[in-house]
Amino acid sequence: MTVVVCGVEELPRGSIMTVMNGDTPVVVARTGAGEYHAVRGWCAHQGAMLGGGRLTWLTCEDARGGYALSRAGEILRCPWHSFEYDVTTGRCVTDPKLRLRTYPVRVEDGNVLLDVPDAT
Ligand code: FES
Repeated sequence: MTVVVCGVEELPRGSIMTVMNGDTPVVVARTGAGEYHAVRGWCAHQGAMLGGGRLTWLTCEDARGGYALSRAGEILRCPWHSFEYDVTTGRCVTDPKLRLRTYPVRVEDGNVLLDVPDAT
């Protein structure tokens, strides 16, 4: 089933929006580079609604022992315990054993469209 999420202007770079597929929340994200991705909206850690979190950068240690930021707006941080998820793959950066389901997103005629299974 295809769901119209919003118009492209309603989801600026670096922002998220939650849509419901039946009882299941789906978080649609637009990265800093302008790409669209969607992941299941329950945190795989303890079930927080990820739509209450925010998109951020990937933070890694650099060669000098400092911090380096990359991949603007590709990391979704959970509002409860700050686990972080890569919205491009659904993989949890904090605990790689955890993963979120991902969904296809596309833009057509100025609208953001999400393909989800039929809600039951
Ligand atoms: S519920 Fe999301 S990090 Fe714990």
